Amino acid sequence: MFSHLSEPTLDPILSLSIAYRQDARPDKVDLGIGVYRNSQGETPIMAAIKQAQDIVVETQQTKAYVGLAGCEEFNASMTDLLLSGTSAMDRVATIQTPGASGALRMLGDLMKLAQPDTTIWISNPSYVNHKPVMEAAGLKVKHYSYFSPVTKQVDSGKMLAELALAGPNDVVLLHGCCHNPTGADIDFAAWQAITELSQKNGFIPFVDIAYQGFGDGLEEDAKGLRYMADNVEEMLITTSCSKNFGLYRERTGAAIVVGKSAKDVNNAKGKLLTLARSTYTMPPDHGAALVKTILNDEKLTQVWKSELSEMQQRLLSLRTSLCNEFRTTHGTEQFDFIEQHKGMFTVLGFSADQMATLREQYGIYGVGDGRINIAGLSENHIAYVASAIAQVAN
Ligand code: LMR
Repeated sequence: MFSHLSEPTLDPILSLSIAYRQDARPDKVDLGIGVYRNSQGETPIMAAIKQAQDIVVETQQTKAYVGLAGCEEFNASMTDLLLSGTSAMDRVATIQTPGASGALRMLGDLMKLAQPDTTIWISNPSYVNHKPVMEAAGLKVKHYSYFSPVTKQVDSGKMLAELALAGPNDVVLLHGCCHNPTGADIDFAAWQAITELSQKNGFIPFVDIAYQGFGDGLEEDAKGLRYMADNVEEMLITTSCSKNFGLYRERTGAAIVVGKSAKDVNNAKGKLLTLARSTYTMPPDHGAALVKTILNDEKLTQVWKSELSEMQQRLLSLRTSLCNEFRTTHGTEQFDFIEQHKGMFTVLGFSADQMATLREQYGIYGVGDGRINIAGLSENHIAYVASAIAQVAN
């Protein structure tokens, strides 16, 4: 059965974490996988999560099954966090999923079921798991232009010209904020323009928002998505608690369907539950129990919001320090774009060879497509990283 199988291909992000762990050099720097780190280089459990954990341990009475949709209070809270105040609130259905990748797969399977010849349009570049998940669900994948390697910003003109060709059988996947891998986000005018194209040409927007709170703040980061939800009939959303609640290993996320009516989304939810049953049956509960506890307690919500805002501020200050270092020590403004990017990631514009040089010669681990995780920087090695990047750039 297995003898004809080809050698496994390595995941470009997860394999990097393994290589980093095996690297014995003491001055190595991990700018690979998208995990937040504090100034000590640690990914601590957030204080709000610790407090919620105490409450859950104290009050939870059973470990019996929860249900196919996971925790419904969690689902309601996540829906609120993203769509509160929009007209979509009375025509939306949400299921808890194992992380946002689990949500992507569930919505991929739902699209395949509801509209088998769907083509999903993905930004070029996009999160490395977008294409594999959508292809695994049996969908056709197409890319739209997104990032300008010259300006290191979104090329909105080119993007909109290509998206104007998407039609009724198409779904357009957008990043809600903090674009992975580039760090370059579309502006509000582009959200409005894509919404208008969707209304005119009939494609369905799909927003993957895995970093809410890391860009311009919790509310700001959902602004484009909310505008869209208010103005389109149908929309798909995936969200994650891995980053903004620091719950990476708990695999906590949600898949959200906005439809024309409550009846439509109720039917879509029913299909999602059948798909979940034949895939993993139920999502793991612990992470969702913690998030539900936080979002249903005003004090804990405040603790969480202020921690998240601290994390966001730290990312901004790391971006500024890195750019200052390039400007003052290396006399170059070539990397000023880093300060305009949002969230954890920035694409340097380096080739795979240049990224390999950074890794092999300097012990600096970034992803092969040129992505670095700003959160992996710390104040005491910014000078070292800036110097290595400046040398490899020349
Ligand atoms: C990343 O992009 O580094 C993270 O989202 C981890 C992952 O699942 O790839």
